Amino acid sequence: MFELFPDEWTPVAFAKEIRRGRAKKVRVAGEDLALFRDHEGRLAALIDRCPHRGVALSLGRVTEAGTLECPFHGWKFDREGACAHVPFCDVPADKRARLGATAVPCRERGGLVWIFTGEDARGREPELPEALVEPGWAHFQYAEEWSTHWTRAMENMLDYPHLPYVHQRSIGRQLRAPAERNAHLELEVRPTSYGMQIVARVEGKQSPAGLSWRRPNGMVLDLSFGGRRMKQHIYCVPVDEKVTRMMLISTRDFGLFALLAPLYWLLDWSNTWILREDRAVVESSQPPEVPHPSEEKSVAVDGPTLAFRRWYHRELKPRAAQKVDVPATSLRKGPRAS
Ligand code: FES
Ligand SMILES: [Fe+2]
Repeated sequence: MFELFPDEWTPVAFAKEIRRGRAKKVRVAGEDLALFRDHEGRLAALIDRCPHRGVALSLGRVTEAGTLECPFHGWKFDREGACAHVPFCDVPADKRARLGATAVPCRERGGLVWIFTGEDARGREPELPEALVEPGWAHFQYAEEWSTHWTRAMENMLDYPHLPYVHQRSIGRQLRAPAERNAHLELEVRPTSYGMQIVARVEGKQSPAGLSWRRPNGMVLDLSFGGRRMKQHIYCVPVDEKVTRMMLISTRDFGLFALLAPLYWLLDWSNTWILREDRAVVESSQPPEVPHPSEEKSVAVDGPTLAFRRWYHRELKPRAAQKVDVPATSLRKGPRAS
């Protein structure tokens, strides 16, 4: 399972997308999941294949007792994946325990649904940037899918030199002239416990925008002006080898009151235009997955993106290669019910 992106926490959906009473299908790292809430509103994530005949559990209904009922023969599964009911068969509890679906570790934090792309998340929890969890920040959420490998999308978010070209009409406008006159750009990479911080200096002057990578697939852009702060968060969620779900969470510590909300909504929405400015260029990258650092030509200002590539090829990619492809439905084997 999840060979593309093994043993990592990633957001996969916005918490508000998972309503009570019905399941939602999401695809992550090539695996379909059925997300739902039990009768107490607690989140659950099951591999979206019934262990009986392989149909999509996400087509089923959530019962009053909080179990997910398969649409085909009505087996019911709780949030741990345990089989709670098999119609027409008086299956003893010990046998029924072996008829379960596969549950995936999941959490609801910062308005996001997080899943762990492996079977055992013991000792590991998703680490969220402060603006997603602290009070006093307004959240704006937006997502769209790009036709690219998640690594190209992630790298783009850490790439400073593209700003005056891809974003020449928006956030990169001021950098266009310095870029054209070959101004000196220094990009300092500071490793941190969560990934890295990137400090940009143009002709010795430090950029007021702070950029950081939240390993494995998150970016935070920290902007301050007049004592107010905005933080843009982007997660590049691998849907499969060819598709990436771009999740934007734009936060600000001002304009929290309803009176001016429409004005600030426009400000939040403008961040989606900036995201879309990147799309066509990133989708055109070949090969879609970032190659090894030695395989494309690079220069000094590619330092941050090369740091990401080195991590990917040194840590995540070898883990992905080792992962044995075990079909999720064969993980729990048991005798057929009689
Ligand atoms: S396929 Fe799910 S209960 Fe038969
Ligand atoms: Fe960009």
